[in-house]
Amino acid sequence: MKTFYSFDDVTDLSKLSSLALKFKRAPLHKKSIGEEKTLGLVFLNPSLRTRISTQKAAMNLGVQTIILNIEKEGWGLETEEGTVMKGTAGEHIKEAAAVLGEYCDLIGIRSFATLKDKKEDYLDKVFTGFREYCNVPIINLESTLYHPLQGFADLITILETKTSTKPKIVLTWAPHPKSLPHAVPNSFCKWMLGAGFDLSIACPKGYELDPQIVGPIKQLNNQNLALEGADYVYAKNWSSIENYGVNSCTDPSWMLDDKKMGLTKQGKFMHCLPIRRNVVATDSVIDSTTSLIKNQANNRVYATQAILYNLIQGLNDYE
Ligand code: CP
Repeated sequence: MKTFYSFDDVTDLSKLSSLALKFKRAPLHKKSIGEEKTLGLVFLNPSLRTRISTQKAAMNLGVQTIILNIEKEGWGLETEEGTVMKGTAGEHIKEAAAVLGEYCDLIGIRSFATLKDKKEDYLDKVFTGFREYCNVPIINLESTLYHPLQGFADLITILETKTSTKPKIVLTWAPHPKSLPHAVPNSFCKWMLGAGFDLSIACPKGYELDPQIVGPIKQLNNQNLALEGADYVYAKNWSSIENYGVNSCTDPSWMLDDKKMGLTKQGKFMHCLPIRRNVVATDSVIDSTTSLIKNQANNRVYATQAILYNLIQGLNDYE
Protein backbone atom coordinates (compact mmCIF):
# COMPACT_ATOMS: atom_id res chain seq x y z
CA MET A 1 0.00 0.00 0.00
CA LYS A 2 1.47 3.38 -1.03
CA THR A 3 -1.67 5.49 -0.64
CA PHE A 4 -4.45 5.22 1.92
CA TYR A 5 -7.14 7.43 0.49
CA SER A 6 -10.29 5.35 0.93
CA PHE A 7 -11.63 1.86 1.55
CA ASP A 8 -10.82 1.10 -2.10
CA ASP A 9 -7.08 0.99 -1.24
CA VAL A 10 -7.60 -2.00 1.05
CA THR A 11 -6.57 -5.25 -0.63
CA ASP A 12 -7.20 -7.70 2.25
CA LEU A 13 -9.80 -6.47 4.73
CA SER A 14 -9.70 -9.59 6.85
CA LYS A 15 -5.92 -9.41 7.32
CA LEU A 16 -5.98 -5.66 7.95
CA SER A 17 -8.72 -5.99 10.60
CA SER A 18 -6.91 -8.87 12.32
CA LEU A 19 -3.76 -6.77 12.40
CA ALA A 20 -5.59 -3.82 14.01
CA LEU A 21 -7.10 -6.10 16.64
CA LYS A 22 -3.68 -7.63 17.29
CA PHE A 23 -2.27 -4.13 17.82
CA LYS A 24 -5.09 -3.52 20.29
CA ARG A 25 -4.07 -6.61 22.28
CA ALA A 26 -0.35 -5.85 22.03
CA PRO A 27 0.25 -2.23 20.95
CA LEU A 28 4.05 -2.43 21.16
CA HIS A 29 4.69 -5.80 19.53
CA LYS A 30 6.12 -4.10 16.42
CA LYS A 31 7.64 -1.14 18.22
CA SER A 32 10.81 -1.00 16.10
CA ILE A 33 9.50 -1.16 12.52
CA GLY A 34 9.24 2.62 12.30
CA GLU A 35 12.62 3.48 13.77
CA GLU A 36 14.33 6.24 11.78
CA LYS A 37 11.06 7.07 10.02
CA THR A 38 9.26 10.41 10.20
CA LEU A 39 5.55 10.96 9.69
CA GLY A 40 4.49 14.49 8.76
CA LEU A 41 0.92 15.37 9.76
CA VAL A 42 -0.48 18.30 7.82
CA PHE A 43 -3.75 19.86 9.02
CA LEU A 44 -5.82 22.44 7.21
CA ASN A 45 -8.65 21.95 9.74
CA PRO A 46 -9.08 21.32 13.49
CA SER A 47 -8.74 17.88 15.03
CA LEU A 48 -8.58 16.20 18.42
CA ARG A 49 -8.91 12.44 17.76
CA THR A 50 -7.20 12.18 14.39
CA ARG A 51 -4.23 14.21 15.50
CA ILE A 52 -3.61 12.45 18.82
CA SER A 53 -4.55 8.89 17.78
CA THR A 54 -2.27 9.10 14.73
CA GLN A 55 0.61 10.36 16.88
CA LYS A 56 -0.04 7.57 19.38
CA ALA A 57 -0.20 4.94 16.61
CA ALA A 58 3.09 6.23 15.22
CA MET A 59 4.71 6.18 18.68
CA ASN A 60 3.67 2.54 19.13
CA LEU A 61 5.61 1.68 15.96
CA GLY A 62 8.66 3.80 16.78
CA VAL A 63 7.79 6.44 14.15
CA GLN A 64 8.57 10.12 14.92
CA THR A 65 5.87 12.66 14.05
CA ILE A 66 5.98 16.32 13.02
CA ILE A 67 2.75 18.35 12.91
CA LEU A 68 2.11 21.34 10.69
CA ASN A 69 -1.15 23.30 10.98
CA ILE A 70 -0.42 24.59 7.54
CA GLU A 71 -3.15 27.22 7.21
CA LYS A 72 -2.13 28.88 10.50
CA GLU A 73 1.59 28.14 10.68
CA GLY A 74 2.59 27.70 7.03
CA TRP A 75 1.75 29.50 3.82
CA GLY A 76 -1.74 29.39 2.33
CA LEU A 77 -1.87 26.65 -0.32
CA GLU A 78 -2.60 27.23 -3.99
CA THR A 79 -3.90 24.15 -5.81
CA GLU A 80 -4.74 25.55 -9.28
CA GLU A 81 -2.42 24.69 -12.16
CA GLY A 82 -1.05 27.66 -14.12
CA THR A 83 -2.55 30.30 -11.83
CA VAL A 84 -1.11 33.80 -11.38
CA MET A 85 -0.54 33.79 -7.63
CA LYS A 86 -1.59 37.31 -6.73
CA GLY A 87 -4.16 36.19 -4.13
CA THR A 88 -3.83 35.16 -0.49
CA ALA A 89 -2.18 31.78 -1.17
CA GLY A 90 1.58 32.14 -0.66
CA GLU A 91 2.80 28.73 -1.82
CA HIS A 92 1.81 26.27 -4.52
CA ILE A 93 0.98 22.71 -3.49
CA LYS A 94 3.65 21.51 -5.93
CA GLU A 95 6.46 22.95 -3.82
CA ALA A 96 4.82 22.52 -0.40
CA ALA A 97 4.12 18.79 -0.95
CA ALA A 98 7.49 18.13 -2.59
CA VAL A 99 9.43 19.83 0.23
CA LEU A 100 7.48 18.02 2.97
CA GLY A 101 8.17 14.79 1.09
CA GLU A 102 11.91 15.55 1.37
CA TYR A 103 11.63 15.93 5.15
CA CYS A 104 9.25 13.02 5.86
CA ASP A 105 9.01 9.32 5.00
CA LEU A 106 5.21 9.33 5.20
CA ILE A 107 2.67 12.15 5.08
CA GLY A 108 -0.86 12.40 6.47
CA ILE A 109 -3.12 15.21 5.37
CA ARG A 110 -6.49 16.62 6.51
CA SER A 111 -8.44 18.94 4.25
CA PHE A 112 -12.22 19.26 4.61
CA ALA A 113 -14.75 19.97 1.87
CA THR A 114 -15.61 23.63 1.38
CA LEU A 115 -19.27 22.64 0.67
CA LYS A 116 -19.50 25.53 -1.79
CA ASP A 117 -18.82 23.86 -5.12
CA LYS A 118 -19.60 20.16 -5.51
CA LYS A 119 -17.49 19.73 -8.63
CA GLU A 120 -14.44 21.27 -6.92
CA ASP A 121 -14.93 19.29 -3.70
CA TYR A 122 -15.28 16.03 -5.61
CA LEU A 123 -11.81 16.61 -7.14
CA ASP A 124 -10.31 16.45 -3.61
CA LYS A 125 -7.51 18.71 -4.81
CA VAL A 126 -5.41 19.00 -1.66
CA PHE A 127 -5.18 15.25 -1.13
CA THR A 128 -4.64 14.47 -4.82
CA GLY A 129 -2.07 17.29 -5.08
CA PHE A 130 -0.08 15.91 -2.16
CA ARG A 131 -0.34 12.40 -3.58
CA GLU A 132 1.04 13.62 -6.88
CA TYR A 133 3.88 15.80 -5.60
CA CYS A 134 5.06 14.53 -2.20
CA ASN A 135 6.68 11.34 -3.54
CA VAL A 136 6.21 9.37 -0.29
CA PRO A 137 3.36 7.16 1.01
CA ILE A 138 0.35 9.26 2.00
CA ILE A 139 -2.55 8.82 4.43
CA ASN A 140 -5.93 10.50 4.31
CA LEU A 141 -6.67 12.10 7.71
CA GLU A 142 -10.07 13.24 6.29
CA SER A 143 -10.42 14.72 2.87
CA THR A 144 -13.38 16.30 1.13
CA LEU A 145 -14.90 12.91 0.33
CA TYR A 146 -13.56 10.30 2.77
CA HIS A 147 -12.44 9.72 6.34
CA PRO A 148 -11.11 6.18 6.01
CA LEU A 149 -9.31 5.98 9.37
CA GLN A 150 -12.65 6.70 11.05
CA GLY A 151 -14.45 4.14 8.88
CA PHE A 152 -11.86 1.49 9.71
CA ALA A 153 -12.04 2.22 13.48
CA ASP A 154 -15.84 2.01 13.26
CA LEU A 155 -15.57 -1.37 11.56
CA ILE A 156 -13.19 -2.70 14.24
CA THR A 157 -15.58 -1.48 16.94
CA ILE A 158 -18.43 -3.45 15.35
CA LEU A 159 -16.28 -6.53 14.75
CA GLU A 160 -15.39 -6.74 18.43
CA THR A 161 -18.94 -6.19 19.73
CA LYS A 162 -21.28 -7.85 17.20
CA THR A 163 -23.32 -10.90 18.18
CA SER A 164 -24.35 -12.02 14.67
CA THR A 165 -22.45 -12.46 11.41
CA LYS A 166 -24.49 -9.85 9.57
CA PRO A 167 -25.63 -7.16 12.03
CA LYS A 168 -28.32 -4.68 11.02
CA ILE A 169 -26.75 -1.24 10.96
CA VAL A 170 -28.55 2.07 10.51
CA LEU A 171 -26.73 5.26 9.63
CA THR A 172 -29.10 8.05 10.60
CA TRP A 173 -28.90 11.72 9.72
CA ALA A 174 -29.16 13.92 12.84
CA PRO A 175 -29.68 17.67 13.29
CA HIS A 176 -26.73 20.07 13.63
CA PRO A 177 -26.45 23.87 13.67
CA LYS A 178 -23.71 23.91 10.99
CA SER A 179 -23.34 22.52 7.46
CA LEU A 180 -21.16 19.43 7.68
CA PRO A 181 -19.29 17.45 4.99
CA HIS A 182 -19.96 13.89 3.80
CA ALA A 183 -16.56 12.29 4.44
CA VAL A 184 -17.59 10.38 7.58
CA PRO A 185 -20.91 8.99 6.29
CA ASN A 186 -19.38 8.19 2.88
CA SER A 187 -16.58 6.23 4.51
CA PHE A 188 -18.86 4.51 7.01
CA CYS A 189 -20.98 3.19 4.14
CA LYS A 190 -17.99 1.93 2.21
CA TRP A 191 -16.48 0.05 5.16
CA MET A 192 -19.82 -1.45 6.27
CA LEU A 193 -20.69 -2.65 2.78
CA GLY A 194 -17.12 -3.88 2.30
CA ALA A 195 -17.56 -6.00 5.43
CA GLY A 196 -20.84 -7.40 4.08
CA PHE A 197 -23.09 -5.94 6.81
CA ASP A 198 -26.80 -5.08 6.43
CA LEU A 199 -26.65 -1.27 6.16
CA SER A 200 -29.46 1.21 5.60
CA ILE A 201 -29.60 5.00 5.79
CA ALA A 202 -32.27 7.20 7.38
CA CYS A 203 -32.35 10.85 6.34
CA PRO A 204 -34.81 13.65 5.58
CA LYS A 205 -35.84 13.99 1.96
CA GLY A 206 -33.17 15.85 0.00
CA TYR A 207 -30.36 14.61 2.28
CA GLU A 208 -29.71 11.26 0.56
CA LEU A 209 -26.02 10.42 0.21
CA ASP A 210 -24.55 10.21 -3.28
CA PRO A 211 -25.23 6.69 -4.63
CA GLN A 212 -22.25 7.05 -6.95
CA ILE A 213 -20.08 7.10 -3.84
CA VAL A 214 -21.92 4.99 -1.28
CA GLY A 215 -23.41 2.48 -3.72
CA PRO A 216 -26.93 1.05 -3.91
CA ILE A 217 -27.93 1.34 -0.24
CA LYS A 218 -31.51 1.55 1.04
CA GLN A 219 -32.07 5.25 1.93
CA LEU A 220 -35.30 5.79 3.91
CA ASN A 221 -36.93 9.10 4.83
CA ASN A 222 -38.73 7.50 7.79
CA GLN A 223 -36.28 7.29 10.70
CA ASN A 224 -38.54 5.25 13.01
CA LEU A 225 -39.08 2.63 10.32
CA ALA A 226 -35.35 2.43 9.61
CA LEU A 227 -34.47 2.01 13.30
CA GLU A 228 -36.73 -0.99 13.88
CA GLY A 229 -34.65 -4.01 14.90
CA ALA A 230 -31.28 -2.28 14.40
CA ASP A 231 -28.22 -3.75 16.14
CA TYR A 232 -26.19 -0.55 15.67
CA VAL A 233 -27.28 3.07 15.19
CA TYR A 234 -24.68 5.49 13.84
CA ALA A 235 -25.79 9.11 14.13
CA LYS A 236 -24.24 11.83 11.99
CA ASN A 237 -25.21 15.10 10.43
CA TRP A 238 -24.36 15.87 6.82
CA SER A 239 -25.46 18.64 4.50
CA SER A 240 -27.53 18.14 1.38
CA ILE A 241 -25.92 16.74 -1.76
CA GLU A 242 -28.93 17.63 -3.92
CA ASN A 243 -28.83 21.27 -2.75
CA TYR A 244 -25.08 21.13 -2.29
CA GLY A 245 -23.77 22.12 1.13
CA VAL A 246 -27.10 23.43 2.40
CA ASN A 247 -28.22 22.50 5.92
CA SER A 248 -31.74 23.86 5.96
CA CYS A 249 -33.25 20.98 7.96
CA THR A 250 -33.02 21.55 11.69
CA ASP A 251 -35.99 19.30 12.55
CA PRO A 252 -35.29 18.30 16.21
CA SER A 253 -37.48 15.22 15.82
CA TRP A 254 -34.46 13.57 14.10
CA MET A 255 -32.43 13.76 17.34
CA LEU A 256 -31.82 10.32 18.83
CA ASP A 257 -33.46 9.81 22.22
CA ASP A 258 -34.31 6.81 24.40
CA LYS A 259 -37.69 6.37 22.70
CA LYS A 260 -36.08 6.04 19.28
CA MET A 261 -33.36 3.74 20.59
CA GLY A 262 -36.21 1.66 22.08
CA LEU A 263 -37.26 0.78 18.51
CA THR A 264 -33.94 -1.01 17.97
CA LYS A 265 -32.86 -4.50 19.07
CA GLN A 266 -31.05 -3.10 22.12
CA GLY A 267 -29.05 -1.26 19.48
CA LYS A 268 -25.63 0.13 20.25
CA PHE A 269 -25.11 3.85 19.70
CA MET A 270 -22.21 5.11 17.60
CA HIS A 271 -20.83 8.52 16.63
CA CYS A 272 -17.41 9.61 15.32
CA LEU A 273 -17.17 12.63 17.71
CA PRO A 274 -17.14 15.51 18.35
CA ILE A 275 -20.86 15.40 19.14
CA ARG A 276 -23.32 18.19 19.95
CA ARG A 277 -25.16 16.95 23.05
CA ASN A 278 -28.95 17.23 23.02
CA VAL A 279 -28.85 18.23 19.34
CA VAL A 280 -27.57 15.06 17.62
CA ALA A 281 -28.50 12.76 20.52
CA THR A 282 -29.67 13.20 24.09
CA ASP A 283 -27.35 12.96 27.07
CA SER A 284 -28.99 9.69 28.09
CA VAL A 285 -28.27 8.07 24.70
CA ILE A 286 -24.68 9.35 24.60
CA ASP A 287 -24.02 8.26 28.20
CA SER A 288 -25.88 4.94 28.04
CA THR A 289 -24.15 1.61 28.58
CA THR A 290 -24.80 0.74 24.92
CA SER A 291 -22.92 3.80 23.68
CA LEU A 292 -19.71 2.84 21.84
CA ILE A 293 -18.34 6.34 21.24
CA LYS A 294 -15.29 5.93 23.46
CA ASN A 295 -14.50 2.50 21.98
CA GLN A 296 -14.61 4.03 18.49
CA ALA A 297 -12.24 6.81 19.52
CA ASN A 298 -9.89 4.33 21.21
CA ASN A 299 -9.89 2.08 18.14
CA ARG A 300 -8.67 4.99 16.02
CA VAL A 301 -5.19 4.25 17.44
CA TYR A 302 -5.13 0.59 16.36
CA ALA A 303 -6.79 1.19 13.00
CA THR A 304 -4.13 3.79 12.22
CA GLN A 305 -1.37 1.55 13.52
CA ALA A 306 -2.44 -1.19 11.08
CA ILE A 307 -2.51 1.31 8.19
CA LEU A 308 0.93 2.72 9.09
CA TYR A 309 2.30 -0.81 9.32
CA ASN A 310 0.84 -1.59 5.90
CA LEU A 311 2.38 1.56 4.41
CA ILE A 312 5.81 0.93 5.95
CA GLN A 313 6.07 -2.84 5.66
CA GLY A 314 3.15 -4.21 3.61
CA LEU A 315 0.83 -6.92 4.86
CA ASN A 316 2.68 -9.87 3.32
CA ASP A 317 5.42 -9.68 5.94
CA TYR A 318 2.93 -9.76 8.78
CA GLU A 319 2.70 -12.91 10.91
N1 CP B 1 -13.60 11.83 14.52
C1 CP B 1 -12.60 12.68 14.23
O1 CP B 1 -12.00 12.62 13.14
O2 CP B 1 -12.32 13.56 15.23
P1 CP B 1 -11.38 14.86 15.08
O3 CP B 1 -12.04 15.75 14.04
O4 CP B 1 -11.31 15.46 16.42
O5 CP B 1 -10.05 14.41 14.56
